[in-house]
Amino acid sequence: MEYFHFEKKDTVGILSIHRPEVLNALNRASLEELCRFLEDDVPRENLQVLILTGVGNKAFIVGADIKEMNGFSPVQMLAFLDLGQRVTFLLERQDLICIAAINGYALGGGLEIALACDFIYASATAKLGLPEVTLGLIPGFGGTQRLSRAIGSRKAKEMIFTGRMITADEAYAAGLVNRVIPPDQLIPSSLETAQWIVQNSPIAVLESKRAINMGTQMALYEAMELEKQACTVSFATDDRRKGMEAFIQKRKPQFRFPSSS
Ligand code: CAA
Repeated sequence: MEYFHFEKKDTVGILSIHRPEVLNALNRASLEELCRFLEDDVPRENLQVLILTGVGNKAFIVGADIKEMNGFSPVQMLAFLDLGQRVTFLLERQDLICIAAINGYALGGGLEIALACDFIYASATAKLGLPEVTLGLIPGFGGTQRLSRAIGSRKAKEMIFTGRMITADEAYAAGLVNRVIPPDQLIPSSLETAQWIVQNSPIAVLESKRAINMGTQMALYEAMELEKQACTVSFATDDRRKGMEAFIQKRKPQFRFPSSS
């Protein structure tokens, strides 16, 4: 890949964007590369957790490439937004747990991509924001929707209407990031969390992700039905049998990936 580095440690992958000359701004080519990776090239058969980060300490992703975007026609802009939104849906719907490890600026489309991940860790020096209105734009990769759903519409409106960047601590207080971590510990801590996740039943983890993602789009009654069905599916798996037997025999379960049902 030209703009992304991918490395794998057992069933955990780290995908890092690398366009340092523009603080990891996403032009069309890099967004297409990310889309292709998520659509076709993720080694799903032996990957459970994907950590998305930026190379270095300065930037996660500073959003769309403004210099390129400035030359777009409205039709090209529509196609670019379509691509960006596709990337966010791909992240959200991956049969993987996606952790955004924000190592610096996460602005505009960068924050919108982080918002599509399952959860976010931020380095203590990170700055987050949706500054689109300062450019005469509005967020277009899902920011108006996912930020409101993540932190409530009032806080989202304040961030979007002012275009102001917030610190990692402010983002934590708003519930936008799960943890604030010293910069040199960001990836080790993300990997440590990934290790917790991969010890559990892969199918149960993914069924939980599906129930949360789909359920939050539904009325409570339907969402509870969905949960009941997903729980019954997990009950019928070999993983559940292994997990419960291990508990009863006072030992740790050994789950295999991919799970057998
Ligand atoms: N697009 C293109 N180039 C960018 C960029 C972007 N989003 N952000 C930074 N760069 C470039 C700068 O132009 C500069 O390049 P040159 O050296 O050639 O001048 C280089 O990266 C370094 O940037 P700065 O000199 O500005 O670095 P700084 O430390 O002074 O400031 C910053 C850092 C606060 C992140 C500032 O660069 C900035 O505000 N960037 C713009 C962020 C932004 O507005 N993002 C939203 C984009 S719109 C969007 O994402 C739409 C959408 O919803 C899809």
